[in-house]
Amino acid sequence: MVKTVFFLGATGYIGGSVLQHLLGTPGEYSITALVRNADKAKKLETFGVKTILGNLDDSDKIQQAAADADITIHTAHADHVGAAKAILAGAKVRFEKTGVAPIYIHTSGTGVFTDHALGTHYDPAKLPLYDDSNRAVLDSIPDSAVHRNVDLIVLGGDEEGYVKSYIVLPSTIYGLLTGKLVDAGIANPHSIQIPIAIKASILRGQGAVVGPGENEWPHVEIHELSDLYIRLLKAAIDGTATHGRDGLYIGENGTYLLKDAAKTYTRALHAAGKSRTPEPESFTKEDIDKYFGGPYLGSNSRAKAVRAKRDLGWAPTKGDADFFKSIEEEVASILADPHGTELHELR
Ligand SMILES: NC(=O)c1ccc[n+]([C@@H]2O[C@H](COP(=O)([O-])OP(=O)(O)OC[C@H]3O[C@@H](n4cnc5c(N)ncnc54)[C@H](OP(=O)(O)O)[C@@H]3O)[C@@H](O)[C@H]2O)c1
Repeated sequence: MVKTVFFLGATGYIGGSVLQHLLGTPGEYSITALVRNADKAKKLETFGVKTILGNLDDSDKIQQAAADADITIHTAHADHVGAAKAILAGAKVRFEKTGVAPIYIHTSGTGVFTDHALGTHYDPAKLPLYDDSNRAVLDSIPDSAVHRNVDLIVLGGDEEGYVKSYIVLPSTIYGLLTGKLVDAGIANPHSIQIPIAIKASILRGQGAVVGPGENEWPHVEIHELSDLYIRLLKAAIDGTATHGRDGLYIGENGTYLLKDAAKTYTRALHAAGKSRTPEPESFTKEDIDKYFGGPYLGSNSRAKAVRAKRDLGWAPTKGDADFFKSIEEEVASILADPHGTELHELR
């Protein structure tokens, strides 16, 4: 039977990637997307996606659309409390009407597993390795962690039993998104974390990193991440995926040091005449406040993807070498784009 899907974040990097997959299996899903840009909404309709014009503060629209759907996939914003609450309110209405708990796939991030290291390497006594198959370590995440307030709201809905929640936690996502929604000018092909460091480096005329850049993050390639979402969706529909507090799925397939990423983009920027030297220096405190709104890029994130690989058959093949190669491609793409250095909020 055709499943009804309410989709948030359709025009984004993660969302565009996931939506392209869904559109690849016509007849399986009837999709309605919340879109705030009228031109993009019109274009999306030509792909057979119904649209609701609105933004994440339109709680009534979100609640109604979630109440109308078997499945809600939210890839728009890991920190938007109102949107998560409205989705849950809609799910509750649906449960009370049908007696069946709808599926809610939420997007968080491995920012939830971070410290405040200012570019130094993590202290294992203070920052554990968060393995997503280890319930005890996941339950120890501080309530004050990044994204955690929204994750706890989502988990609360699952605990009450009226919704089945699945939370995907991508790490640093890399790679230029390709596909028909990008070609049509609908989906954003760029990630956030490494591109913003590249853009800040271009704007200051010198490649840089937070502190010494000894901090470490996991990474995952965008197309492989969307495969995780699709596998999770199918397993959630089949009833084989674990949910709630046992339904956190990390997207990760390798790690990198920020200084090595910075060396790669600084070399590439220098070769293009956009960095005074080929070796990165440290961002100043003023740079960090101006470009990033805080030293988030100096944190460590320690996360291990076990659950999706073990339970969903997710088998990413892209690793560290692909990550570093993608940085060179990202530099070339940003430099080729006349609007390439426009800054977006770091989330
Ligand atoms: N990229 C990563 O490496 C990464 C890793 C982990 C977690 N995450 C989290 O995943 C989420 C999505 O990331 P992304 O890289 O896909 O970002 P993105 O490319 O900027 O996509 C965000 C999507 O959400 C929509 N959106 C955002 N705020 C909205 C609002 N107020 N009203 C309506 N629509 C809104 C955007 O619409 P418009 O097209 O109209 O802007 C776009 O469709 C973020 O919360 C991010 O923190 C990202």
